[in-house]
Amino acid sequence: MSTHNSINKGKAITVTIDSKVCKSTFGKTILEIARENGIYVPTMCYLTKVQPIGSCRMCVVEVEGVEGMILSCQEKATDGAVIHTKNEALHQERQNIMKLYNVNHPLECGVCDKSGECDLQNKTMEFGLEEQAFTARDQYRPVENWGHVSYDPALCIMCEKCVRVSTEITGDEALKVKFGGYGSTIINTKKEKNYTSLGEAAAVCPVGALVSTDFKYTSNAWELTKIPSACPHCGGGCQMTYEVKNGRIYRISNEFEFSNLCGAGRYAFDYANEGVSKKGDAFEKALEAFRTADSVLLSGQTSNEEALILQKLKENLGFKLVSHEARAYQRFMRAYSTITGKSLYNGTLKRLSESRATIVLGTKINDDSPAVKYHINMASKWHSARVAYMHPMEDREIQNIVTQFIKYEAGSEEGVAALLADTLLKEVELPKAIRAFMDDLDIGYLSAESNIGEEELEALERSLIKRVGFSLVVGADLYGHPRAEQIAKLLALLEQYADFNVICVPPAGNAMGISLICDLDDEADGSTVGYNVPADFTLSALGNADLDMPAMNQQEGTLTTVDKRVVPMNAALSYDGYVLNDIANVLGLNKRYTIDYTEELPEEKGFSSEKFDDLPDYFDSVGNEYRGYLLKAQKVSVKRSFDDVEALEGFDGPVIYNCNPTEQFSAFTAKSKLLKNEAVLLGSQQFAAVTKLQDGEKISYQVDGIKFDRVFKIDTSMKGTIALNPTFDMGLSAYLLSSYRFRRLDFERVGS
Ligand code: SF4
Ligand code: SF4
Ligand code: FES
Repeated sequence: MSTHNSINKGKAITVTIDSKVCKSTFGKTILEIARENGIYVPTMCYLTKVQPIGSCRMCVVEVEGVEGMILSCQEKATDGAVIHTKNEALHQERQNIMKLYNVNHPLECGVCDKSGECDLQNKTMEFGLEEQAFTARDQYRPVENWGHVSYDPALCIMCEKCVRVSTEITGDEALKVKFGGYGSTIINTKKEKNYTSLGEAAAVCPVGALVSTDFKYTSNAWELTKIPSACPHCGGGCQMTYEVKNGRIYRISNEFEFSNLCGAGRYAFDYANEGVSKKGDAFEKALEAFRTADSVLLSGQTSNEEALILQKLKENLGFKLVSHEARAYQRFMRAYSTITGKSLYNGTLKRLSESRATIVLGTKINDDSPAVKYHINMASKWHSARVAYMHPMEDREIQNIVTQFIKYEAGSEEGVAALLADTLLKEVELPKAIRAFMDDLDIGYLSAESNIGEEELEALERSLIKRVGFSLVVGADLYGHPRAEQIAKLLALLEQYADFNVICVPPAGNAMGISLICDLDDEADGSTVGYNVPADFTLSALGNADLDMPAMNQQEGTLTTVDKRVVPMNAALSYDGYVLNDIANVLGLNKRYTIDYTEELPEEKGFSSEKFDDLPDYFDSVGNEYRGYLLKAQKVSVKRSFDDVEALEGFDGPVIYNCNPTEQFSAFTAKSKLLKNEAVLLGSQQFAAVTKLQDGEKISYQVDGIKFDRVFKIDTSMKGTIALNPTFDMGLSAYLLSSYRFRRLDFERVGS
């Protein structure tokens, strides 16, 4: 049945399944076509988002003219095939498989966490197996605590879903199968790392073998109310479901067949602003502060609707509206659009996961956007994609997917972008003016200043030859760069003329939505009001502010994601205080609820006029995403002109890089009791030597006027003279950081 004839891929075919004529395309498996047509085939090891595992045999079917039973999850359908998914022989086969599964899997579900949502329990009933037909001699296999998750080998059915997720999706590659007949087991080869990404592996476990340690024994699954929403922590906007009981979030789950959550999405859910009431005169003071404000600052933790409220208040009251990260991103994307003629980048996560070669530039992607990193990992695992990681610092956490690390000097990104454009557009026909600009580039100089050798670029070029499907992922190091607009235009050439799938990763929370909705100013002045940013008058969801506001898990609204999708967010917990809309209504706007603004999001920026309550929020049975809607790219006038590439500014001496540890993004994730990270300045031995700092020494320094008091720690696995400076512990002040992420370190010793 199978053929590897890729020429036929996508060709229309017709197959008959259980007498139903099904139209589909060549390249799909029988199971996929059955699901597309609503035909149920039982499975145990199948997980839509990874390659077929083929370990359970539950999905067997018969195909006329083909001897024996066939695994429908692996077999591609051929045109004209006549397939049967239900008959006595198939039922017997599946029943026998279930009997074997139940050998020694104690059906004492009352004490199991998975009871009520367990595949084994469900299928045992489906196949009428009330009794355990066989037993094997039980071996003592204790439960293992792996930090965020716990593993009970006695309950494990060795379906391997968790291993595939750890390898193909999150890429931590921690889980492996240890073969040994009945003694086969799953092992965690990287226990010491305590990866939060193992939460994703636990999510796909069909039984109670791999569970979240924190959730274990806290609640029965059926007592929890499920509230679908979107994760607000980074620009990923990943699908998530709050599971709530008695006003408390017990856990986060997700549509794990089709989508993923990183550790922040899964574990940083306990950041609500609790115990807030409408008592006191804070509301009146807030009104006065808005009326007299010269500037209003907002953080990335602002929904599309709230951003629109602030924009409308700006139009009415005339204050400046400032959001540093969103503004930097806005300027970058506007410059980018002048080359492509479209308001949005062309890239999607799906195309990224299908890429054969990907270049990552100007982002510590593992930490900046786990969702994007997962898709790069998928391409690496599924298509052996080449991954060139271009950054001033090597990242050991992604060395398993990076095929070429190209180190450049911090500060030289404009030169790097020019070198990339020169290398990748050599053979491409370009408009005369652009070709002339490219021909004028002083490659030798750029190469010397950025410290990227000719041979590295040649190797990069070679790795792309004969491949199809290129992606370029760029990030926040570039948006804050003094030459961000020129860099944006250089990189946009790759989308425009070389068909790169380009993703410009939004720098924080809802920065993309804010950048589209708000007319942002560069700098604040005069009297200030801050929305989750410290100001003369501060409104905040972190508590202890001049006026409390609801946290993201206490409000309804929409977010704009890296995939250019506007997705709905629902409230998991109640909130009894004031919201921004209450202020807006007194100040001249007039909407009953914040979500009444959803249908007014600006169509000229790509939003659709859809009511919040009409937004869909689901995946269909084959994984097509129906969450909110996709932004529509708008036409932008083209102006394909470049400045000369300027002399590159390098850094002498020790440098710090503003970067949070994996799965910490902000003061909100920092509140999570399940995510613990130490906020220290982390540097190499070499950094310690250059700065003459001792391990454990306390220092103080300023970045953009914000004072950091930090302990310096040596990390022996790091190299070079750049240290990592986290900002997630800086409360709301972190949103005031406005400049390029690398900077020279000038510090004072505070004493150890
Ligand atoms: S731990 Fe769960 S997901 Fe992993 S192999 Fe065992 S049963 Fe399957
Ligand atoms: S990748 Fe971003 S949006 Fe997705 S779960 Fe993680 S923090 Fe949330
Ligand atoms: S679902 Fe096909 S072998 Fe398991």
